[in-house]
Amino acid sequence: MKNILSIGGSTSNKSINKKLADYTALMFKDATVQFYDLSQNELPIFSVQLEEVIGMPELVLDFVELMDEADFLVLSLAENNGNLNAGFKNLLDWVSRIPGRKTFNEKPILLMATSPGARGGASVLEIAEKSFKRLGADIKSTFSLPSFNENFDVEKGIVNSVLLAELQTIVKGLN
Ligand SMILES: Cc1cc2nc3c(=O)[nH]c(=O)nc-3n(C[C@H](O)[C@H](O)[C@H](O)COP(=O)(O)O)c2cc1C
Repeated sequence: MKNILSIGGSTSNKSINKKLADYTALMFKDATVQFYDLSQNELPIFSVQLEEVIGMPELVLDFVELMDEADFLVLSLAENNGNLNAGFKNLLDWVSRIPGRKTFNEKPILLMATSPGARGGASVLEIAEKSFKRLGADIKSTFSLPSFNENFDVEKGIVNSVLLAELQTIVKGLN
C-alpha cells in the first residue's frame, strides 16, 4: 500500500491548494494519506542568525519525518505574486539547512497548482518545476486547475469533466 503525503503549499487556513491536494491524494487506489496543514505549523522566518540561536525547529523535523515516511507526495502550490507562497518557501529554506540533505530527498511528486484565475497558478508551477528538481524532487507529473471556484465544488470535487478526466488519467498513471 502506498503512503501518500498531501501538502497544500499555502499558509492559508482556507487554502484552495490544500483542498485540491487532499482531494487528489484521495483519488489514489490502495493508499493511505497523511494530510499536512501548513497553516497549523507556523514557523519563524529563516535567517542564518536565527538558526544559530534556535537551531532546527521541531516543526521542520516533524515535516521532514512525514515526507521521508511517504512513498509519494501530492503537492499543490499557491501562487502569490507569480511565485511560491512565502510560508511554504520558508519551510523549504529551513529543510534545505539539514546537513547532507536534498530538500525533497528524491521523492516522487505530483506537482500541482490552482488559483481563482484563468492561469491556474501556471507561473508558480513553471518556477517550481525548474527549481524543485535541483532540490531533489522527482516530479512525475504536473497538473494545473484554472478558475478554482468554477471548476471545484467542496462536496463534489472537480466538476469540469475535461479537467477531471485529465487528472484521473494522471493519477491512474501514477497508481
Ligand atoms: C498576496 C497575494 C498574491 C497573489 N498573487 C497571485 C498571482 O500572482 N497569481 C494568481 O493566480 N493568484 C494570485 N493570488 C490569488 C491566489 O491565487 C488566491 O489567494 C488563492 O486562494 C491562493 O491559494 P491558497 O488558497 O491555496 O492560498 C494572490 C493572492 C494574494 C493574497
